[in-house]
Amino acid sequence: MFLSVASAPGKIILAGEHAVVYGRPALAAPLWQSAATCTIEQAETGAGCTLALPDLGQSDLPAAAGDPLWEVARAAVALAGAPTNPDWRITLRSTIPIAGGLGSGAALSAALVRAIFAAAGATVTPEEVSALVYRSEVAYHGTPSGIDNTVIACGRPLWFVRGEPPEFFALGAPLTLLIADSGVRSPTLDAVAAVRRAHEQAPTRIEALLDEIAGTVWALRGALEAGDPRLAGALFDANQTLLAALDVSSPLLERLVGAARAAGALGAKLSGGGRGGNIIALVEAETVAPVQQALTEAGAVRVIRTVVE
Ligand code: PMV
Repeated sequence: MFLSVASAPGKIILAGEHAVVYGRPALAAPLWQSAATCTIEQAETGAGCTLALPDLGQSDLPAAAGDPLWEVARAAVALAGAPTNPDWRITLRSTIPIAGGLGSGAALSAALVRAIFAAAGATVTPEEVSALVYRSEVAYHGTPSGIDNTVIACGRPLWFVRGEPPEFFALGAPLTLLIADSGVRSPTLDAVAAVRRAHEQAPTRIEALLDEIAGTVWALRGALEAGDPRLAGALFDANQTLLAALDVSSPLLERLVGAARAAGALGAKLSGGGRGGNIIALVEAETVAPVQQALTEAGAVRVIRTVVE
């Protein structure tokens, strides 16, 4: 018997990734074209709770101690007031590529939490979803800033500073973005660790870069609120230059952002942990098709169009 279904979007970081780990602001938006969905069905009495991820070839994820999804499931079951180890068949599906900087892990956890509360007949706030998802983010990548769980739980574009409630802001004009997947899977944990090592070795230089990134984030918020896509594009480019200086870009990512700009994008940058994963290119109606084609020719394995509003 069907009990509940819930979903959660992927996410993109518009600017400020990595610097956000060090207390600087960042801008993020949900990505509804890629989403995670969780379905819960009633199982036979005494069957207990099972968790399947068919898209990942997992028909029965072992309930090993420390598994992030199981940890989140157990915590959500307890908070929702459901009996421990309920007779539920939980199925998680996702169209979000893993380790691509699009928040795949956080979206799976958020869909799971929402479906568990719905199956238990309980309500849950975005803040509660975010707090539960944060636990799995810690397991996935050590010292997360909290931006992924926050934007995915809230489902709205937001301004985020670590440890503070998010601020929502209105865009002066919709933003059309092409999201191009480099096809290279790059764990955020590794990129964040590399930046941490650089920060330990050359704190003054890295702090200066992080401050410069923060400057582009502040300016981008202003450009987005004013509905100025040209300025926003220039700030994407400036942010990308700083991310490359932080050594989280890669030759393939540089080729993709270069191809997007050459084909008429207003600006382009990596999004998320970097060194692989996705880039985002800011386009206008007339440049969608040429930029999409240029990205594919430059090696993108998938290009998604999204509108942030
Ligand atoms: O999960 P990703 O790859 O989108 O990266 C999140 C952004 C980082 O700033 C690199 C890490 C963090 O915890 O904020």
